[in-house]
Amino acid sequence: MSSQSPIPGRRVIAALSLKGGVGKTSVVLGLAGAAATQRRRTLVVDLDPQANATAALDPREAPFTASDVLFDARPGIASEAIVPSGWPGTVSLLPSERALEHRAGDASPDSAGRLRRALEGVAEDYDLVLIDCPPSLGELTRNALFAADLALVVTEPSFFAVAAAQQALEAVGLVREHGNPSLQAGGIVANRVRPTLPEHVFRMDELRAAFGGLILGALPDRSAVQQAQGACVPVQSWQSHGAKEACLAFDALLKRLAPRTGSEMSARSVTPTPKSVEIPAQGGAS
Ligand SMILES: Nc1ncnc2c1ncn2[C@@H]1O[C@H](COP(=O)(O)OP(=O)(O)OP(=O)(O)O)[C@@H](O)[C@H]1O
Ligand SMILES: [Mg+2]
Repeated sequence: MSSQSPIPGRRVIAALSLKGGVGKTSVVLGLAGAAATQRRRTLVVDLDPQANATAALDPREAPFTASDVLFDARPGIASEAIVPSGWPGTVSLLPSERALEHRAGDASPDSAGRLRRALEGVAEDYDLVLIDCPPSLGELTRNALFAADLALVVTEPSFFAVAAAQQALEAVGLVREHGNPSLQAGGIVANRVRPTLPEHVFRMDELRAAFGGLILGALPDRSAVQQAQGACVPVQSWQSHGAKEACLAFDALLKRLAPRTGSEMSARSVTPTPKSVEIPAQGGAS
């Protein structure tokens, strides 16, 4: 992967937000699980020193991490740190660790291009690459945006949502102008939405008024999302009504961000693609 045009159909998606705890990791995990049900080769890059995605993806071992990869930064070096996740199926992981925090302070002139270099010739082995960013627009998130071709802004239906999403989009615009012209704003997704709460309805209307078509939809607030993460399994394998609702929403989001290509379907048309629907507007049980 370089500043050349992205390979058609392949998507490198960075999930970002300025604010912490809005659901970046959960969205990355939900999309990875949705892609895995379609047998798409998926790589999750955990670029957050909190290593929450790494914990949830439960790899058997992680001898090297994103911290080692960014330190080294030779072209293609990421392949030496990528391990199978503990999930069944086709999800691989470039794990994180606390030490990655030290890389966040490195702001040498070419530092933002380190992940992109490390993924050169590696990202092409996957149908989908999902990068989980830390809760800031600092150096690690810049690395993610330099490596990505699509930026997904995650937000919550709160008073701060419009301002936070605006700042994230500005960061995306800056990286597109200065370093990664292939980067597109994939859109904004609101997470943990309860459509029965008037406050959430109001905030969703506010987001739509501010960002129009950039709003990709709303992901429902369902405790199954947390339960599946706690059990280190994809929400797609969790058995509850709430889990099904969350899965439908992740399927719909994946379809909007990275629809399957013809070549992917013919190569791996083993299981039927789960039924895709619009992201549900009404909530139900957890
Ligand atoms: N749709 C959802 N329904 C219910 N719980 C959710 C949902 N999305 C996220 N959560 C829970 O909210 C908490 C924060 O989510 P998550 O860790 O994904 O946010 P984050 O943006 O990655 O946080 P950080 O900024 O710290 O990396 C977690 O406990 C997660 O399980
Ligand atoms: Mg996170």
